[in-house]
Amino acid sequence: MVRIVVVGSINMDLVTLAPRFPAPGETLLGNRFLTVPGGKGANQAVAAARLGAEVALVGAVGADAFGQQLRDGLRSEGIDLGQLATLEHEGSGTASITVAEGDNQIVVVPAANARLTPTHVERARPCIARADAVLVQMEVPLETVEATVRLGHRLGVPVILNPAPAQRVPRDWLALARYVTPNQHELATLLGAAPDDDFRALMQQAPCPVVLTRGAEGAWYREDAAAIHQPGFEVPVVDTTGAGDTFNGALAVFLGEGVAAATRMACAAAALSVGKLGAQGGMPTRRELEAFLARSGG
Ligand code: RIB
Repeated sequence: MVRIVVVGSINMDLVTLAPRFPAPGETLLGNRFLTVPGGKGANQAVAAARLGAEVALVGAVGADAFGQQLRDGLRSEGIDLGQLATLEHEGSGTASITVAEGDNQIVVVPAANARLTPTHVERARPCIARADAVLVQMEVPLETVEATVRLGHRLGVPVILNPAPAQRVPRDWLALARYVTPNQHELATLLGAAPDDDFRALMQQAPCPVVLTRGAEGAWYREDAAAIHQPGFEVPVVDTTGAGDTFNGALAVFLGEGVAAATRMACAAAALSVGKLGAQGGMPTRRELEAFLARSGG
């Protein structure tokens, strides 16, 4: 069984479905409201667990009702919570999400996630040392992300850095990641380039291999000097929230089969994930993913 450690955020997603996005200052009547588990770290952990990996999550929730619900949800997915801290006098992370017009807008309040420190990562060292891959995103403090990348590299465990939400990262430790998985905008921000710079050129300039996501268009990865395109799968879209997280979770699970195969599996898993509401709602099991690939021609 593939062993994955995820270091990252855990949020309660407060989701509003609306007929369109409101303009600044406008009040709009929405269609539906729901509270579902989310957070990029938790989502990637769930994506990997549903695909059959043994997953441990290094993260933090608050000592509040959301914290308990989030913990229960992760436990029900079979995720190892031995490295999940519950922080006193702190709230759990939340994300206010508006889903409209086939897209979403998200405001995250990190709360407990902002208090996940390099010490928590260091405590997880034995767990990380046994992993086949580590996944980390940027909804926790940058020093914690850096500590994760450096520790994985020191232990010889490949680290996949999903640089979302985007910020600039020093090249010296970015170079220690096995893969970085931005979208086009995140890649430009990560490298301090202009948003409209050619992404293929930027992929060559990055100090570590890039697997670049392009939404419905699929993904690009680099093999030798060439940038190779993995087309996306055509599917009906209900909610794109968490599609990137599903992609990353799947990429980590299938990385042992090579980047080309892993990127294809990740695109297929992400396509399935957008068919249901909520970040984790549509994440496929391995059986669902295999059935989908069989229907899509192998
Ligand atoms: O990537 C989607 C996630 O971003 C949501 O679940 C939300 O919690 C934010 O972290």
